[in-house]
Order: sequence, then structure tokens, then C-alpha cells
Amino acid sequence: PKYTLVDQDTCIACGACGAAAPDLFDYDEEGIAYNMIDHNTGTVSIPEELEEDLEDAYEGCPTSSIKVNQQAFEIRSS
Ligand code: F3S
Repeated sequence: PKYTLVDQDTCIACGACGAAAPDLFDYDEEGIAYNMIDHNTGTVSIPEELEEDLEDAYEGCPTSSIKVNQQAFEIRSS
């Protein structure tokens, strides 16, 4: 399984991830991306049919803000 979250400290709101993976990434009112499946906690595995979109988003992010892991991310305090 794959898990993902956006590092919102480095996201520059470029919008590429939502274009690559519209069912995975959405933006807050400032245009900062988040994983809409699990409120950007990286704790819910993404559906298999979205893994390819995730790969595209991961590779396309200019600031490498999209983090991908094979297991759930640790809960972060931010
Ligand atoms: Fe931000 Fe990267 Fe998406 S900069 S808007 S996480 S493609």
C-alpha cells in the first residue's frame, strides 16, 4: 500500500499535483495542497487505482513536497 502527504511548509501552491491526481490532492484557501483522503495525515492507504496518479504528482512536484511512504506516516503535530 502507499501513503502520501504534502509537506505544507515547502509547497509553493504550484497546482501541479491536483492536475496530476485530482482525486487525491486538493488545495486550501491559500492554494497549499493537501491529501484529501486522510486530511493530509498520511495514515490512510490510497486506493490502488490512484497509485499511478500519485506517482505522476510525486514526480511532478517542483519542490518535492509530496511525500510517499509504503506505510502510514507518523502523526505529526503541525
Ligand atoms: Fe504544492 Fe507541489 Fe502540489 S508545490 S501544489 S505540493 S505539486
